[in-house]
Amino acid sequence: MKTSLKYIVLLFSINFIEGSFRCDYKYSLKAQAWFKFVVVPANWFDARLRCSEEGAVLASPTSPEILVEMRNLMNRSYPEFEIFTGIHATVSQGDYYTIEGTPLSKIAVPWSENEPDNKDNVESCIALNGNGELADRPCEVTRPYICYRPEASHVEVSECGTVDPEYHLDKRTNKCYKFHTMPRNFSRAYLACSAEGGHLAIINSDVEATVLRELFAKYPDAKFFGNFRKDLAFIGFQDWGEKWDLRTVHGQTLLEAGYNKFAPGEPNDWTPGEACGGIFRSGLLIDVWCNKPAPFFCEKSTGFPNVCKALF
Ligand SMILES: *[C@@H]1O[C@H](CO)[C@@H](O)[C@H](O)[C@H]1NC(C)=O
Ligand SMILES: *[C@@H]1O[C@H](CO)[C@@H](O)[C@H](O)[C@H]1NC(C)=O
Repeated sequence: MKTSLKYIVLLFSINFIEGSFRCDYKYSLKAQAWFKFVVVPANWFDARLRCSEEGAVLASPTSPEILVEMRNLMNRSYPEFEIFTGIHATVSQGDYYTIEGTPLSKIAVPWSENEPDNKDNVESCIALNGNGELADRPCEVTRPYICYRPEASHVEVSECGTVDPEYHLDKRTNKCYKFHTMPRNFSRAYLACSAEGGHLAIINSDVEATVLRELFAKYPDAKFFGNFRKDLAFIGFQDWGEKWDLRTVHGQTLLEAGYNKFAPGEPNDWTPGEACGGIFRSGLLIDVWCNKPAPFFCEKSTGFPNVCKALF
């Protein structure tokens, strides 16, 4: 009895590979991929960016199975309207490819009536409507969209609850951190951390300041490319518009959060509403211009977003 059970379990594990990804995506066995419908409309560039930072790509109907799944998701959430696909000609007008590089000529989806029309010569992004037809649209308009992650990119979910290998758990705080060396302004840094399932780092103790200081030290100036200050990075606090009212991205004052050690002479004067949180290599805080790109620290808890398993 025991042996036959073992045999069944063995058979089962030979025929199926188990994969995991964040639970806000659902796995489709037919399309062999993870999908997520994003209801909040975005322009095409932001849609591309968000999917990418979640570890996925902006979905394109490159196979009948993917098209069916995309239409299923649309029917459930957004039946009357249209969504952006990953098909675009933003590099060279008229040269349409998916994000992954499949040319439009290989995509067997019909055009909607009177489309494509490249209206006013400004349409370089392709939308999919509820009838399963394509239309060209300006990339700057906003549409809902679908993020897609093929099974082939299967990798293990780490102890940080993500497929992103750059998040590392620190036992001292029991939280995961990632340092982004590519500078962004505060708004884009916030987006990146959020899409990765985390948030701009919030320092809750002297120990956590030490954790970030040590992580920063692993990236000497020579590891960054570009012309920007390399002695400071964004973290998760900003001015709420009243001078000196600095709050974490979770709404607490720095004192409530548990760490408010500023570098000498900081925070200094600023125009209200334009001060965002920074940390020096020393671990001390500074207020910096929100719109000047800087490297940044993201933080995520090990259990969010939830990770779901699927059998391939
Ligand atoms: C979505 O709804 C349309 C209209 O009701 C229907 O024709 C189409 O087959 C549906 N698509 C899927 C994939 O269920
Ligand atoms: C932040 O950067 C993005 C992309 O470079 C840009 O579109 C946006 O306007 C910037 N925001 C601010 C507040 O500077």
